[in-house]
Amino acid sequence: MDARQLKVKAAETALGYVENGMRLGIGTGSTAREFVTLLGEKVAQGFDVAGVPTSEATARQCLELGIPVKSLDEMPELDLTIDGADEIDPSLSLIKGGGGALLREKIVASASNRMIVIADDSKVVEKLGAFPLPVEVMPFGLEATRLKIERYATELGLSGALNLRRSGDGPFMTDGGHYIIDASFGRIPDAQALSDALNSIPGVVEHGLFINIATLAIVATDSGIRTLKP
Ligand code: A5P
Repeated sequence: MDARQLKVKAAETALGYVENGMRLGIGTGSTAREFVTLLGEKVAQGFDVAGVPTSEATARQCLELGIPVKSLDEMPELDLTIDGADEIDPSLSLIKGGGGALLREKIVASASNRMIVIADDSKVVEKLGAFPLPVEVMPFGLEATRLKIERYATELGLSGALNLRRSGDGPFMTDGGHYIIDASFGRIPDAQALSDALNSIPGVVEHGLFINIATLAIVATDSGIRTLKP
């Protein structure tokens, strides 16, 4: 099976966890997009759910498919969020934000009773960090924030390029109007320590380490579905 078929398989399996009447958080990225497509088919058949999208792109797809969309203020407590990930470790810590939606994704997942991660098996790793860690930062004071990230990372024994994500001629801009620094630290031995350090930097809005948030991962492989629990 190719990567897209595996994403569809994971999305199909996740749909089995969605019950009529649920308040959903709806993720962003190519795997979440497959889930939204399938959810749209169910809604067209009369399935009743409402969802908070984690990005403008997902909101547009939901609206096109007739999936009822709410803001998180209208529906501040959610039953279940379904989203993709860039990396998943055995304890279900994640790196997210490859698509740039990590801030809304983390807010929405944290407002949910459960978060199911859907992925193909290329996303499963022993240790997080081969995928550059997205760090969402304020445009104001960008260089000062970058230097702090570098300094704190060095104290944790981490080093690597900190690249401002670009789009066309300028910096990539998130839905929240922030920039993203992609931090290529390589293997991250202590994700919690790095998360704490990044959270202590005023110019850091959020980062892509999701620790103790996901409750289940549905991983599609050529030989079938694997589920991982923390
Ligand atoms: C979006 O910001 C990300 O967190 C995505 O959930 C993540 O990058 C996974 O995307 P894919 O499903 O496209 O790999």
